[in-house]
Amino acid sequence: MPVKLENGKFMNISVIGLGKLGLCSAACFASRGHRVIGVDSDPQRVRRLQRHECPIDEPDLEEMLAGCWDLLEATDDVEEAVGHSDVTLIIVPTPSGADGRFDNGCVGAVLTAIGPALARKETFTVVDVVSTVMPGSCRERFAPLLETLSGRRCGRDFGLVYNPEFIAIGSVIRDFLNPDMVLIGASDARSAEIVRGLYESTCLSDPHIACMSLINAEIAKLSLNCYVTMKISFANELASVCEQTAGADIDVITEAIGSDSRVGAKYLKGGLGFGGPCFPRDNIAFQAFADEAGVAARLSPSVVAVNLGVVDRLFGVLRDQVAAGGRVAVLGLSYKPRTHLVEESQSVQLVRRLAAAGYRVVVHDPKALEAAREVLGEAVAYAADAEAALARADAVVLMTDWPQYRRLDWARAEAGVNEGAVLLDCWRMLREVQFGRINYIGVGLGGANSERMPLKHESAAGTDICWMES
Ligand SMILES: NC(=O)c1ccc[n+]([C@@H]2O[C@H](COP(=O)([O-])OP(=O)(O)OC[C@H]3O[C@@H](n4cnc5c(N)ncnc54)[C@H](O)[C@@H]3O)[C@@H](O)[C@H]2O)c1
Repeated sequence: MPVKLENGKFMNISVIGLGKLGLCSAACFASRGHRVIGVDSDPQRVRRLQRHECPIDEPDLEEMLAGCWDLLEATDDVEEAVGHSDVTLIIVPTPSGADGRFDNGCVGAVLTAIGPALARKETFTVVDVVSTVMPGSCRERFAPLLETLSGRRCGRDFGLVYNPEFIAIGSVIRDFLNPDMVLIGASDARSAEIVRGLYESTCLSDPHIACMSLINAEIAKLSLNCYVTMKISFANELASVCEQTAGADIDVITEAIGSDSRVGAKYLKGGLGFGGPCFPRDNIAFQAFADEAGVAARLSPSVVAVNLGVVDRLFGVLRDQVAAGGRVAVLGLSYKPRTHLVEESQSVQLVRRLAAAGYRVVVHDPKALEAAREVLGEAVAYAADAEAALARADAVVLMTDWPQYRRLDWARAEAGVNEGAVLLDCWRMLREVQFGRINYIGVGLGGANSERMPLKHESAAGTDICWMES
């Protein structure tokens, strides 16, 4: 049952930019009873939505849309949408420039269309920027632009809010409805309260609502993502230390330190580095922002360096095990499970590296094969299923932790690999599997790629299994 706002009414909102984040946001608001007008500059996307088709592949989105079409309409007319809204959210791309800064071009184009609509409106409207922007953008660029175009005062006649999301691709709907925290930077208290009401009536969780100034929210958005990537890189650096330390086990260590509330368990699992459309670029943008502020950021570049080093390390392990020319099966290409996206995927980086070094690479992914083909082209072979990828492989690398790979019948699958093949398991998904032909190497497990600790297949000779704690 949708929750009503204090005044007993649902809100009229518009969402400009119906992409991976925007369409999910629009669907979530509508599913909770708000009336939503969605706007996109892509006429095909608008037409599909008008036909009640779902143009984005994201878990639960299609089902959610099916239940709320009566509250969600799509158009390409920004002015009309703003004219009928209490809050207009802007969720358009802000691509990274060569200097690492986010480009405000699309946001600027949307604001240019919103300005004249604000001039004609008689009711107070909140313009809510959700797109990731550089700190300072709202106060220094967006507010003056809207004031000039509308002839109205920001904070008095209309409100400006910066309200970025902290969702993850593959769980956008769940994350959107159940946030730990909602970040609201506002030009004025009235706008902050309106957006607070919107989220309080939409979220299923009882999130901390952090209201602050525009600049603080802009900095908080970048900082949060940079902090998470610092945790990821810490765990990955720890994993590489564990690999060189007899008996060390990254899972045992991170489970213990993650249970300390000062640390927390999330994003503390040594494995692959971070990728995708947000984390890598937010780190670079933070460095550009620090630089502008006259501060030489030292942590962020180190976090990026550790991240880049993960692929080097994996390549080194494989090169030590299999000579160039060998056949390597790479399972998982998307930057994480439950998405087809390969943007900044560490798997794609490793595949490129292997192919360039003369390995014959066969790849598989449950969802990302087509996206990978666009960036990898003919340099590799594409397998229709995981077992086909494994056929005659000298090495198998488990990159993305898709549950499908955990569930594979490994007893049957390993029959296809070449005798003595190695399996490099980046997330230790298969550490419990008893292999016959395959030599198992778990990332972050001591001695797995050195002679100090035996590999599992050597345990028959009476030595310890490498992942057992002594
Ligand atoms: N996807 C995420 O996980 C995520 C998470 C946090 C923040 N963000 C931020 O949200 C913003 C949008 O990201 P996304 O992943 O949804 O992008 P996207 O590329 O999937 O979608 C953007 C949509 O905006 C539309 N668009 C572009 N210019 C427009 C204009 N002038 N008017 C109307 N529509 C326009 C495009 O046609 C597209 O449908 C970015 O700033 C991104 O950094 C995204």
